[in-house]
Amino acid sequence: ITYSAVVLAAGQGKRMNAGKNKQFLMIGKDPLIIHTLNPFMNDSSCKEIILVIQKNEQEQFKHLLQSYQLLSKVILIDGGKERQDSVYQGLKAVTQDFVMIHDGARPFITVKELQQLLNRTELTHAAIFAVPVTDTIKKVSGKKLETLDRSVLWAAQTPQAFSLPLIKKAHQHALDNHFLGTDDASLVEEIGHAVEIVEGSYHNMKLTTPEDLKRAEAIWVETTKNEVK
Ligand code: CTP
Ligand code: MG
Repeated sequence: ITYSAVVLAAGQGKRMNAGKNKQFLMIGKDPLIIHTLNPFMNDSSCKEIILVIQKNEQEQFKHLLQSYQLLSKVILIDGGKERQDSVYQGLKAVTQDFVMIHDGARPFITVKELQQLLNRTELTHAAIFAVPVTDTIKKVSGKKLETLDRSVLWAAQTPQAFSLPLIKKAHQHALDNHFLGTDDASLVEEIGHAVEIVEGSYHNMKLTTPEDLKRAEAIWVETTKNEVK
């Protein structure tokens, strides 16, 4: 089966505090967003990459994609106010029967992992990468603390993959009911459809704060040390 990728890059990167969209920050010798796009470029099951961006950064993205010769497979779409709005806009452009929704700020997914997720999605129509939580999580209501059972807690990542009709239905339902989720799987859960977890890698980090850049550099060094630099 084949799929479209919706890659989200329309945020502002406020917590990164870099004075610009974090998608343009360098990891090794390439910008973050290039690292993120590469596995989708190299996955032959991925037929198009819908890159969701801010309108005022369109020229910047166009130039960058052009210089890496990625424009053949990448379509630029204007995003919205919240991440969920950006996904909604991106979904309108999807042409394939399946879609993977991925954060532009997660640069370390691999083609092998994309194939693994796609195989599960074909069977269940909704599959996401997640990793077991390593911290002890406390639920705090006022002064009352509760310690959650860590053995059942997972940290959701992206990509999150769905059949197109299912994720469109979930997003429409969320819009109609003013439900704002923090990921796309939560919108699918909300309409009562099961979501399968595929155990992912701790390397598949999202760059959020300045400290994350150092860890990303370290992962980049580790994952490229066997390649010719
Ligand atoms: N994103 C988006 N449209 C939005 C908000 C976020 O496409 N309206 C994207 C971001 O570009 C990012 C991903 O969603 O790749 C995950 O969001 P987050 O890590 O929160 O990034 P930002 O919103 O850019 O950062 P911040 O919240 O610190 O401003
Ligand atoms: Mg954000």
